[in-house]
Parts: sequence; C-alpha cells; structure tokens
Amino acid sequence: MKRGRLFYHLIRTYAVILFITMAILSIMLYQLLQNYFYNETEAMLLDRAREINLLLNDYSKHIISNDVLTYELQSIDRTTDARVWVVDSRGVIFTETGPIGQRFGGIRLTEDEIRNVLNGQTVIKKGYFGGRFSTPMLTVGIPITTENGITGAIFMHAPIYNINRTMMGAFHLVIISAIISVFIAAVLIYFASRRKISIPLVEMSQAATKISSGNFDVKLDEKRDDEIGQLAHALNLMARDLGNLEEMRRSFVANVSHELRSPLTSIRGYITGILDGTIDEKDREKYLNVVLQESRRLTTLINDLLDLTQIQSGQISLNMVEFDINEVIRLTVIKLEYRLNEKNIEFIPEFEDDNLMVYADRDRMEQVVYNLLDNAIKYCREGGTIWIRTFKRDGKAYVSVRDNGAGIKEEDLPYIFERFYKGDKARTDTSSGLGLSIVKSIIDQHGEAIEVRSKVSEGTEFVFTLKAV
Ligand SMILES: Nc1ncnc2c1ncn2[C@@H]1O[C@H](COP(=O)(O)OP(=O)(O)OP(=O)(O)O)[C@@H](O)[C@H]1O
Ligand SMILES: [Mg+2]
Repeated sequence: MKRGRLFYHLIRTYAVILFITMAILSIMLYQLLQNYFYNETEAMLLDRAREINLLLNDYSKHIISNDVLTYELQSIDRTTDARVWVVDSRGVIFTETGPIGQRFGGIRLTEDEIRNVLNGQTVIKKGYFGGRFSTPMLTVGIPITTENGITGAIFMHAPIYNINRTMMGAFHLVIISAIISVFIAAVLIYFASRRKISIPLVEMSQAATKISSGNFDVKLDEKRDDEIGQLAHALNLMARDLGNLEEMRRSFVANVSHELRSPLTSIRGYITGILDGTIDEKDREKYLNVVLQESRRLTTLINDLLDLTQIQSGQISLNMVEFDINEVIRLTVIKLEYRLNEKNIEFIPEFEDDNLMVYADRDRMEQVVYNLLDNAIKYCREGGTIWIRTFKRDGKAYVSVRDNGAGIKEEDLPYIFERFYKGDKARTDTSSGLGLSIVKSIIDQHGEAIEVRSKVSEGTEFVFTLKAV
C-alpha cells in the first residue's frame, strides 16, 4: 500500500457523507425558509393592503387629499418594496406606485384577474401576474370595502427575488460551513488515521520484516481491543512461537553434535593409541571392544534421531493393525531378559486377561514398551522389582510399567519427555535422553496419552492408553 493512501480513502468517504448530509439539510432548510419567508411577506403585505383600504376610505370621505394619499402609497411602496395598484370596480388601475417606466395606470385588468377579489375574496399569487411583470412577484389582492360595499381592489406585488436572495445567503452559509467542516475533518482524520492505523500498521510491517530476517525479539502493543490489537497479538504469538522453534532447533543441533562428539572422541583416542603403540598389544582387544561398543552406541543414537525426526515431522504414517499388546510385552521382556537377570530384577506381569487386543501400530508399540522397560531396568536398583499391568476400561486399553527404583526428582518430571533430557547426567552416561521423547511422539501420533508418577527412592510408574478392540 502506498504511504498515505488510507488517509485519502477515509477523507473521501467522509466528504461524500458530508456532501449527502449537507444536500439533504439544504433542501430541508430551503423548504423551511421558503415557507417562512412567503408566510411573513404575505402577512406583511396583507397588513399594508388593509392599511391602504383605510386610506382609500379616508380619501373617499375627503378626509385626506389626493396628494396625501399618493404620498402615503409611495411610502408604503418604499418600506415594503412592493408595487401598489388601486383598481376600480371595472378593473381599471387608477392609482399605482413604483418606478417610472413601469406605468400601468389606466390599464384594465382582465375579468379573471379581478373577479375573485371583487367577489370579496383575498387573493394570493406567485408569478408574473399575467405576464405584466418581467420578474416573478408575490401578489396579494384584497377588495376595497367601503360603506357602499366593494368598490374596487387593492393589489400589492412584492418581487420574489428578495426572498430568494435571503435564502441564497443562508445557502452560502451552509456551503461555507461544509467546507470548513471538511477541512477540520481532514486534519482530525489525518492525525487519527496516523496514530490509530498508519503508525501501528507500519510498526507491524516492520516487525514482520524483522521476523522474516530471523529476529524474533518482537513485542508489539496489543492492548487495543480492536482488529489492529488482534493482529498485533497474532504477530506477537507468531514471533514467540517461531522464536521457540528456532531455539529448539539450535539446542537440537547443539545436543546432536555433543552426543556424536563424545563417542567419536573416545573411538579416535583408542585407535590413535593402538596405532602409535601407546596401548600395549595385550590391551588392544579390550580397547577394540570399547571402540565397537562406542560405534554401536553411535548407530543406536543415529537411528533414534532418525526415528524421532521422522515421527515428529509426521513423515511416517502409522500401520494400524489389531494385535495383542500382552504378547508384545512378553516378547519384549524376553529380549531384555539377560539384563533383568544381570541386575537380579524380579519381573511381575499383571495382565487382567491373557489377551488384550488393541488397535495400533505394532512395531511402534514394541518400541514404546521396549523403551519404558529399558528405563525401568536401567534406573532400578540391584534386586529390584518391575511390574507391568494391562487392563481395559471404557473402551481403552491401559498399560502401566512400574519399578521400585531410584525415582525421578520432582523438578525433572516436567522435562523427561523432552529430547536429550537426562535426569542424572553422571549415571546415565551411555544414554542419550531420546527414549522417552520417542515414546511420547509415538503415543501422540496415535492420539493417545501417557502419564508419569514418580517418587524419589520409591519408584516410577508410566501409564499409557491405547484403543482397545
Ligand atoms: N523408570 C525410571 N526411573 C527413574 N528415572 C527415569 C525412569 N525413566 C526415565 N527416567 C529419567 O528420565 C530421563 C529421560 O529418559 P529417556 O528414556 O528419555 O532417556 P535415557 O533413558 O536417559 O536415554 P535413552 O533412553 O535415550 O537411552 C532419564 O535420563 C532418567 O533420568
Ligand atoms: Mg531411556
């Protein structure tokens, strides 16, 4: 988006709204003022016409002279800006006021023009009065009433032009106030849009650029409870998650390098010793065996790592089949039997039923059971006991692997499922800390759960669930 576009968009919208409002307002104002002015002028003209009627009465009774009458009529013309016609009963204008050159004196009005007035009605008209005027007029006509009845008519013509001029004045005010209002709005919108929209958006796009360049240290203000606030919140979350991911990736690489380096260093050390003769002939076999062991450890480590990354990235799809989990446990125990015997550990199976059919990936479940048993044996003391219990509840199969070994420290418990996490570093020299994270990944991929309960020097129990069939 081009800089400042938003502002023009807002001000345009505002101007349109203002224009429509002003147009509606003007039309209404025009109607209102027009009515008002016509009514006022009409009332005023009627008043003066009645005054003229009285003057005419005085004149006919010779109370005032012709000069006085003419003078009075002229002064009414000036003060009202209205032409006065006095018409006799035949419709002939016998007295008039107004500018010279517009003489209507002696002209006879048509029947239509005077009929109603001579019948005693008050007449109000707008227009050119039968084309007799060149500008539109507001005309009022009243009958001349004397003791002898109606003897003629009085017409007063006020130019409408005056009324329109007043209204144009009002209209100008409306337009000027509209222009001022657009101007003020422009200033307000400019600052508001800058502060409320443009600046936050620019900040967010800067933050996004920062994130894309690998800097996740982004903290946008997300206190606003509108869409901008939501966007800021989402960006903050994204930055935090990406930062965590990056942190995990770094520590993963660091851990892998570390785990690979130590066996490699010892392998190189022993082989160098054998080659340069530092290690005696008679000790060679012993150290070559250590080298063999270390290289086996490397293979296991690399296999574990490959497994883990493949499971976690979802590259391996599960091969779901129905099988007997108890059988898998029995076979795994047989594989680990020599180690159980080595440490003189008693193994106690507690199967609710001989068979417990589950629906899962059999090879993966073997891995899970193997890893849990491997841990139980590794962290069990000489002559300890290991229990494996399986049972079925509410359509779920439960497998519990329990030992009365060293137990896990409470502060370690939240981390044991993490990659490379080892509780007691000194003792678990040959382990890499990947076992439980593989277990957890497999259980997660199955959509099942695994829990751990442990107490230092009392023992540890892992329980996981499976889909029973
Ligand atoms: N049964 C157990 N008793 C006591 N501590 C345990 C038990 N199982 C796991 N732990 C603790 O949890 C940590 C993580 O276990 P995990 O299986 O992931 O790694 P590891 O056994 O150390 O190495 P690996 O399994 O890769 O050979 C262990 O180092 C240990 O401290
Ligand atoms: Mg382990």
